[in-house]
Amino acid sequence: MRIGLPFYMSLFFLPLSYGACLLLSLPVAADDIKRGQLLSEKHCSRCHVVGNFNPTGGISSTPSFQLLVKRRPDYKERFETFYARRPHPAFLLIEGVERPLKHVPPNAHPVSLTIDDVRCISAFIETLKKE
Ligand code: HEC
Repeated sequence: MRIGLPFYMSLFFLPLSYGACLLLSLPVAADDIKRGQLLSEKHCSRCHVVGNFNPTGGISSTPSFQLLVKRRPDYKERFETFYARRPHPAFLLIEGVERPLKHVPPNAHPVSLTIDDVRCISAFIETLKKE
């Protein structure tokens, strides 16, 4: 049996789907941004300049987070997948993600994160764009 609705009845669902879209596009929770900031300051500032936390810190050959955000159009993807991009796989462990060079000892102090941590770091990165 074909379940067909007259066109005018489908208009009834429009506000519902609009509401669902609004829900999905709600801004990221402030707690997530704060957590992403603390994680970045703790684990990334050894090598990267992270916002106003360590403006004269980091390692000079390592791009600052601000530079990545402002100069790389695909910065979101870079932050969402940073753990698979060199040099990070050499010292970074992500829960549930196999480390590609696991037979090689970490070349820097090892860091363990979860995928949810990576999501929070990406949320924090967005705030650097506005600075
Ligand atoms: C031991 C030093 C070190 C630490 C710690 C470190 N990074 Fe990096 N990161 C680098 C270096 C070096 C590069 C530049 C790699 C290149 O351009 O080839 C880089 C590049 C990046 C890039 C750009 C990747 C690309 O392909 O363009 C992102 C994003 C990034 N890091 C995120 C992070 C985050 C988030 C953390 C903290 C959880 C972190 N990094 C911790 C050294 C580090």
